Amino acid sequence: MPGKVAASILSADFARLGEQIRLVEPHADLVHVDVMDAHFVPPLSIGPVVVGAIRRSTDLPLHCHLMVDRPEAMLRELADVHVDIATFHVEAVDEPALVIGKIESLGMRPGLALSPDTPVEEVFPHVERLDRVLVMSVRPGWSGQEFLEGTLPRLGAIRAEIERQGLSVEVEVDGGINAETGPRCLAAGATVLAAASSIFKAVDPAEATRRLSAIARTQSGRG
Ligand code: DX5
Ligand code: ZN
Repeated sequence: MPGKVAASILSADFARLGEQIRLVEPHADLVHVDVMDAHFVPPLSIGPVVVGAIRRSTDLPLHCHLMVDRPEAMLRELADVHVDIATFHVEAVDEPALVIGKIESLGMRPGLALSPDTPVEEVFPHVERLDRVLVMSVRPGWSGQEFLEGTLPRLGAIRAEIERQGLSVEVEVDGGINAETGPRCLAAGATVLAAASSIFKAVDPAEATRRLSAIARTQSGRG
């Protein structure tokens, strides 16, 4: 299966969000939206109202990466605006299985995210119910950080567990992804590259997305 590219809008010009998404739409496989609550992570970003506006601006699958303390409180609103995939952090909740169930019952696909210091084994009991594991390759909260090299073996370990269980679950890597780090993540086991700065801070965001997408397609994430 070819690898995929998720355009993470955190580095886009929020005053021209629809226009920015339309620029990258021909080359991206998903739109990745970072929702932050100023509690789980220090910054505050956007919530369901803006997510709804994004939904109306694109037909691409919409993936919400919830960096919030109480993801369950926001899920219905996200489902109401037709979000496709809702990913929450394993560090944020006591019982991930309950939140996964709520996401499923609302008709969305569930993902589980891991911050860089969290042992990868924490997601293993849940992978069979997931659409994707989101592996943070920077500290959650900000775009424009440097890729953490320690992510590579983590991708490999998660991918190996998914294969051991005979599952088809995406492994999305998020943070510091560009044309140099992206191929290494794919080789290590990622199937989806999420990128904000290397796309939206590029002189030509469409070309940057096309280039990353060509890398993802030629270097399959599922060996
Ligand atoms: C960080 C976010 C990422 C971020 C990536 O908390 O989850 O999605 O937008 O930004 P870059 O690609 O600039 O590292
Ligand atoms: Zn993200």
